[in-house]
Amino acid sequence: MKPLAGSVNRVTQIKIVLFSISLLPGLKMAGLLYQEIAAVNPLAELMGTSGSWTLIFLLLTLLVSPLRFWVCWICLFFHVSYGKRLSDWNWLIKCRRMLGLFCFFYACVHLFFYLWLEMGFLIDEVLLDFNDRLFLPVGFAAFILLLPLAITSLEWFRIRLGKNWRRLHRSTYLVAILAMIHFVMLTKVGNNRPLYYGLILGVLLGHRLLMFLRPGSLHPKNYAMEHTR
Ligand code: HEM
Repeated sequence: MKPLAGSVNRVTQIKIVLFSISLLPGLKMAGLLYQEIAAVNPLAELMGTSGSWTLIFLLLTLLVSPLRFWVCWICLFFHVSYGKRLSDWNWLIKCRRMLGLFCFFYACVHLFFYLWLEMGFLIDEVLLDFNDRLFLPVGFAAFILLLPLAITSLEWFRIRLGKNWRRLHRSTYLVAILAMIHFVMLTKVGNNRPLYYGLILGVLLGHRLLMFLRPGSLHPKNYAMEHTR
């Protein structure tokens, strides 16, 4: 089978499909916003939908790197003809920037809905609300940390920052942890959604921690060597 990594057109097609799917939550929110303007008042749903999709895109961005390993192991385990080398799945990395930018886009929408629909752009009210509901400054800290990541996602910065680019983009982990704290703090007792998202985040960060503590241990090359001995 022709490797996907070599097929530029195929990767572009995948990106177009991914882009179109990623826009769907935005369209749903545009519909809800229309109802809001028509005074049906789905404010809670607008905040919930935009917040949820920000978190989902954050987790999807964090999923890309471990997913490369996991699908590679699956291909090795089932002796599939294509996909046994990690590099076969490099095209997944090319989709990561788009997912990260969609996360930032939905975070901006989320913050904008809060400032506009909940606070009417009254800064004094915002400051009082930040004092009353502590999950707000936590969410805001996550948003502020997202800003440099979105700006430096441009190729120009990646080249100029070199190794520091990787270091800077590790703050995505902190953004995800703050986002989870924000979610847990605002959720009512009995709602298990933060637990499910938290478990997913735990697996994604756990994969990275293992890679850090035992470099190379998760590399499919080592798995292949062990099984051909
Ligand atoms: C990376 C940044 C952020 C993420 C990932 C995030 C995520 C979330 C999530 C998952 C929810 C719950 C959705 C649901 O109930 O289904 C939520 C709700 C909410 N968020 Fe955020 N958020 C972020 C930043 C912010 C910021 C900057 C603000 C405002 C300053 C904010 C204000 C709110 C409010 C007001 C709610 C609704 C709370 C309620 O139901 O009473 N968030 N957010």
